[in-house]
Amino acid sequence: MRQAGRYLPEYRRLREKAGSFLKLCCTPELAAEVTLQPVRRFGFDAAIVFADILLVPYALGQKVDYVDGDGPQLTPPIGVGEIGYLRDHCDASVLSPVMETIGRVRQQLAPEVALLGFCGAPWTVATYMVAGSGSLDHGKAKLFAYRDPPRFAELIGLIEQASIEYLADQLSAGADAVQLFDTWSGVLAPEEFERWCVAPVARIVAGVRARIPAAKFIGFPRGAGASLMRYAEHVAVDAIGLDWTLDRSFAQKVQERRPVQGNLDPHVLLAGGDALDRAVDAVLAAFAARPFIFNLGHGILPDTPIAHVERMVARVRGA
Ligand code: CP3
Repeated sequence: MRQAGRYLPEYRRLREKAGSFLKLCCTPELAAEVTLQPVRRFGFDAAIVFADILLVPYALGQKVDYVDGDGPQLTPPIGVGEIGYLRDHCDASVLSPVMETIGRVRQQLAPEVALLGFCGAPWTVATYMVAGSGSLDHGKAKLFAYRDPPRFAELIGLIEQASIEYLADQLSAGADAVQLFDTWSGVLAPEEFERWCVAPVARIVAGVRARIPAAKFIGFPRGAGASLMRYAEHVAVDAIGLDWTLDRSFAQKVQERRPVQGNLDPHVLLAGGDALDRAVDAVLAAFAARPFIFNLGHGILPDTPIAHVERMVARVRGA
């Protein structure tokens, strides 16, 4: 999950120095430093490369801006029948800085600390490309998919191919594993979840492994609920990310199939105190007996106090 960001003063300083978020992502020296900051401060067991899932639409030819307070803006939005202006391959000059960041981080990171690469899963990336921004119900992408499935499949296929190349390149550059973020998979009906989340991610895993057989993946279909079991059965990822809303006895059944990570509610980390201690204990009690990576169930919230992160790490390590 997101580790770097506005909750760290050292991040805010570099962000200001870079001037814009995109510049920070695409300047390897600064992006490497931002990647290493949380590991240095908290002694985490893994780092996640500092980049963003919207670099792929950017590399495919959509204009991407991060507007302070408003979130990302992608122009022009992709409407039904309008995917023609996109490139059929990623512009290497957009994504090659990420590979350079990975190389730099790997050199500076202790060998026992894992380095994760990532990209957005096609459905989640498509929701931003179609809406042109974040949206509440992802209605625009859903309508596109219902009204013109072949054309929507074309868009998903384009993101899929770009993601295969991008992830294979990240692994070749030194990432130990890659994570696929499907942040908005929870808004889909089961058949749509199957078609736009399970199948594309399964093809990405197979496509990367055709190039790099030992490639390791973490899949995170956020909000999948009961459909998570289908994902665990049909997507050959090495581990699955859990959000915090899942029934824990159900999540344990998922864990019988695949190692899991996550599950802590980012808001309880923001709250701190006894509530945090109890929540950490509940996550460990449910999952620590089987292969498990302790993590949040989604990205860290910007107002999270550093002392709460320290308290959480101490409790997990002491347990
Ligand atoms: O440690 C890390 O921060 C790792 C790098 C990372 C970022 N984004 C940096 C970032 C990762 C893994 C992501 C993934 C990402 N980006 C996802 C999937 C996971 C999730 O959080 O749901 C999504 C949906 C995005 C798209 C995105 N990027 C949005 C919607 C926003 C704006 C909203 C927000 O929280 O600010 C971003 C910006 C972004 N990406 C920030 C960071 C640190 C905040 C930038 C800033 O204002 O300085």
